[in-house]
Amino acid sequence: MKLTHTGYTAEQIKELTNKYLIETYERYDFVAEEGDGMYLYDTEGKRYLDFYAGIAVNNVGNRNLRVAEAISDQAQRLIHTFNYPYTVPQALLAELICETLGFEKIFYQNSGSEANEAMIKMARKYGVESDHPDRYKIITAKNGFHGRTYAALSATGRPESKTHRGFLPVLDGFAYADFNDLQSFKDATDDNTIAILIETVQGEGGVQTADYDFMQGLRAWCDENDLLLLLDEVQTGWGRTGKLMGYMHYDIKPDILSMAKGMGGGMPIGAIVTSEKLARVFEPGSHGSTFGGNPVCCAAAYAAIRDLIENKWAENAAEVGAYFREQARTLPYVKEVRGQGLMNAIECSIKMEDKKARFVEEGLLITVIGKHTLRAVPPLIAQKKHVDEAIRIMKSILSEE
Ligand SMILES: Cc1ncc(COP(=O)(O)O)c(C=O)c1O
Repeated sequence: MKLTHTGYTAEQIKELTNKYLIETYERYDFVAEEGDGMYLYDTEGKRYLDFYAGIAVNNVGNRNLRVAEAISDQAQRLIHTFNYPYTVPQALLAELICETLGFEKIFYQNSGSEANEAMIKMARKYGVESDHPDRYKIITAKNGFHGRTYAALSATGRPESKTHRGFLPVLDGFAYADFNDLQSFKDATDDNTIAILIETVQGEGGVQTADYDFMQGLRAWCDENDLLLLLDEVQTGWGRTGKLMGYMHYDIKPDILSMAKGMGGGMPIGAIVTSEKLARVFEPGSHGSTFGGNPVCCAAAYAAIRDLIENKWAENAAEVGAYFREQARTLPYVKEVRGQGLMNAIECSIKMEDKKARFVEEGLLITVIGKHTLRAVPPLIAQKKHVDEAIRIMKSILSEE
């Protein structure tokens, strides 16, 4: 058996992992050793076509060299400091993101859940400090997903799911309405409501895309009732849906937007962006993070976002995503293909959960959501030839039925 770069065998690495890690993941039976663009390699040198992208993270490819260089350069200078001195990467990234998206202010966090925590806290503080102190309620969509920390999981409208099970009581002050049903959001609104929080495409919820009229309606409803529109773009952000941000498909703009995943080129970073007016509710001491805005993560994000913009990877995602959907519709047992850009689902009439291991064996990394659905979220650098390769593998596995 080949040695990993540390001198351990793959089997030893698996044994150590199984012995010591608290396991909440269903492990695939290989040790990931190296990434390269659209591919991941294991310790045996086997190549995997990556339609998983670290769960919609590696938008600019596995081990993007520009990102790797930025990490290495920054790490030689300053790996971490406290959030009291100014740092170069924080400032340059803030300007790049705010100017690119047209927001005034940014706050850095370490993950998608944390970005959502910041967004929820900002909305609540804005609410209780505005006209009356009980405006803290946030309406979210059923079957959405906002993360694993307490406010984020409380915002996740899946009371029966494993996200909630065993963790009750969740935080007070959340109500769940039906996705793509404006009336349901209107009915859930009361005097205590301060905000509506939603994904433009529900990722974990099976790749369900918000309708144009629904998003327009939500924006108008928020404006008419002095509510904030909060968008969780943790997964849809940074080119995934074929535009830089998911909201750009709807001719609207949110009051606060959360981002993470694709933002950092693989490094753990998240953020919220908002207006000057809303940003003012956070003051010294009201929110903070030890690692949020870490210089290495900010330098990586700066490189990843520049790469994404300069290479027009969002536009590529739109084009290659349309090709993927077209090709996926030719697969056997397909009931529905849906999605936006390179965030797509293939719903099948046969069980896909039983096929997980077969995809890995055949060298294709792809997520199974629920029992019958495949979710494809490859790096946005994917070309049509990679789609052809993935479809060929899927076709051969589905034909085994
Ligand atoms: C829409 C959305 N929000 C939040 C999260 C949580 O992000 P993280 O796992 O970085 O905390 C996810 C993760 O899948 C997500 O898809």
